Amino acid sequence: MSLTPLEAQAEMTRLAGEIDRHNRLYYLDATPEISDADYDALFRRLEDLEREFPDLRHPNSPTGRVGGAPLDKFQQLRHAVPMLSIDDVFSEGEVTEFYQRLQRLLGTERVPVMVEPKIDGVAVALVYRNGQLETATTRGDGTTGDVITENVRTIRSVPVRLKESAPAVLEVRGEIFMPAAGFAKLNQDRDEAGLPTFANPRNAAAGTLKQLDSREVARRPLDFIAHSFGQMEGAGPATMSEFHALLKEVGIPGSEPVWHVDTLDGMLGVIHELDERRHHLPYGTDGAVIKVDDRAAQTRLGATSRAPRWAAAYKFPPEQKETRLHAITIQVGRTGVLTPVAELDPVFVSGTTVSRATLHNQDEITRKDVRVGDTVVIEKAGEIIPAVVKVVLEKRSPDAVPFSLFDHVGGLCPSCSGPIAKEEGFVAWRCVNFACPAQAASRIRQFVSRKALDIEGIGSTVAEKLVERELAHSPLDLFEIPEASLAVLNLGTDEEPRIYGEKNARKVAEALQRARMMPLSRWLYAMGIPQIGESAAREMARLHETLPDLATSAILAELRTLKTGERKDDNALLAPYRIASEVGPAAASSALDFFRSAAGKAVLSHMERLGLNPRSDNFAPRPEEAAASYDLPLAGKTFVITGTLSIDRDDMKALILSKGGKVSGSVSKKTHFVLAGEGGGSKRDKAIELGVPVITEGEARAMMDGTDSTPE
Ligand code: IVH
Repeated sequence: MSLTPLEAQAEMTRLAGEIDRHNRLYYLDATPEISDADYDALFRRLEDLEREFPDLRHPNSPTGRVGGAPLDKFQQLRHAVPMLSIDDVFSEGEVTEFYQRLQRLLGTERVPVMVEPKIDGVAVALVYRNGQLETATTRGDGTTGDVITENVRTIRSVPVRLKESAPAVLEVRGEIFMPAAGFAKLNQDRDEAGLPTFANPRNAAAGTLKQLDSREVARRPLDFIAHSFGQMEGAGPATMSEFHALLKEVGIPGSEPVWHVDTLDGMLGVIHELDERRHHLPYGTDGAVIKVDDRAAQTRLGATSRAPRWAAAYKFPPEQKETRLHAITIQVGRTGVLTPVAELDPVFVSGTTVSRATLHNQDEITRKDVRVGDTVVIEKAGEIIPAVVKVVLEKRSPDAVPFSLFDHVGGLCPSCSGPIAKEEGFVAWRCVNFACPAQAASRIRQFVSRKALDIEGIGSTVAEKLVERELAHSPLDLFEIPEASLAVLNLGTDEEPRIYGEKNARKVAEALQRARMMPLSRWLYAMGIPQIGESAAREMARLHETLPDLATSAILAELRTLKTGERKDDNALLAPYRIASEVGPAAASSALDFFRSAAGKAVLSHMERLGLNPRSDNFAPRPEEAAASYDLPLAGKTFVITGTLSIDRDDMKALILSKGGKVSGSVSKKTHFVLAGEGGGSKRDKAIELGVPVITEGEARAMMDGTDSTPE
């Protein structure tokens, strides 16, 4: 039965209203009235009608929650009212001074203030006009931000239309964040897909909002909480409390919990209460925001160009707990580094139970004089990683002995019983057996990583399972695992199996096929040889054509004999090669040792058996000759890349290298150009300070095409 456009319009409006109402019930009031299945049915019915009557689709339809066509880039928008910062205070003394200043400036004993959590998220401004979400903009530099409306529309707790009582123009500001549980799941999924994981929920939220494809954003678990406002039609609320009431009234989630107090003691009391509760909130918070409640008082206090005088953000000191260190165990990492780990009596700190903390290395243990049996103070660095702060010496037992890592492991690797060594100038002990099984999973991880051979589909979990199930002992074994075995690999447990699947196995097989064609520099980096990072690998591939060439390299042999203080450019043999700083005696030595060791020889012969013979794509050992024959457009130019570009920064780096340029991580006087995308803050400032030209992506591309007119 088909509807007339008029009937369809009425039905679509009704459905949109219903869906909005259920969204509010679910996300705001936490009192859903219908099942997920019934909700989905409403949603699908609306989608069907929109497909049938595309002209009748409302731009703010709740179906926009699933995202739309990808954008080329974000538009920019100037904020009607600048988005300011809040001044930080770091101690209770400073919070007290802040309150006393308010009392003095306002000439009154009782200053009503609101205290609420400082949400660790990404700031956004949402402009609603006539109750409809019109734009969502990032903070940007505080004056102008990126328009990310399509992305924000996918966040279910952001209403796309408000209840009727909303002011005609209402700009609410708040934070977008990724709840802890969603973050953990996202990282696990990414890891299994072989994608890089996010360091923390804030980075995950920020990275997600930078996506140009809103459909991808719709798949990520983001949430929103409002805490303040920008422009508003009419007089606006007289107090922040009234503003919160308005949020509730129009259906926007506001800060929770909030406290209202009007004395110094009251304020300090609720700050302590928040400190107790903060680890159980759905978002990360490391502080309390204190705001003067009365808006007339806010106006009297005013603002500096940076921050208002009526607000302060108090950063909580990290929670510290005492516990007993009952043992020190040793972990063997990817490059064979032996890391001492404190085994602790379990203790609840900053929201989770901690029973282990890294002790980094022997020097750290010696410096803090940590001994087995000690009572230690621990905290979570950056609220995330457990760390031993110090030993409680008064509680030390008289027979506690200083800890020696070397003695503890009897001079042997705890994983393979191979020899360990400490290289000159390094603090870490390292297992020097390249075939050490503890290093296998990490070697595979390095091998498949994006900057190495980019085998998408293999992350930490898969790498570990492959080693555990004895399908791979070394990265090269990947080339010999039958696709069918990979397809049935169980990533879960026997009770709860999770099968890798044919599709994923196919993808890996195809990626391995592509890896066969990858250039020498990628292969060299993929091997995870100590001292050979991405830049060193690239430079070594400029100097050598194949892997076997490295084993017999006269350049590396000479380089390794350089005495401290002797420069490569003063050495007759080395000077013509103009070897970059990334390849020095240490890297040369490490490469030679590796390719001449039994393990290295085994790798080379395994590659030969597999028919793998990667060749350099940038072989040009003598730059004077090379420059003449290649004459690449960016030859001799060093770039620093900052900010967000239209392509991944690593891809831009590869592009610049392929055009003969160099890319450095930090700006100095030697930098020729800073290529700045959206938001490149400190590096851009540094460039301006040093007089280094800042160029856009378009200008850089013009230089690569040889069409630029940028001055030398
Ligand atoms: S009020 C002018 N309340 O922290 C101040 N901000 O460091 C108006 N933030 O730009 C903002 N939680 O993005 C306020 N409960 C909260 C907040 C909060 C996080 C962010 C906000 C602000 C930044 C300043």
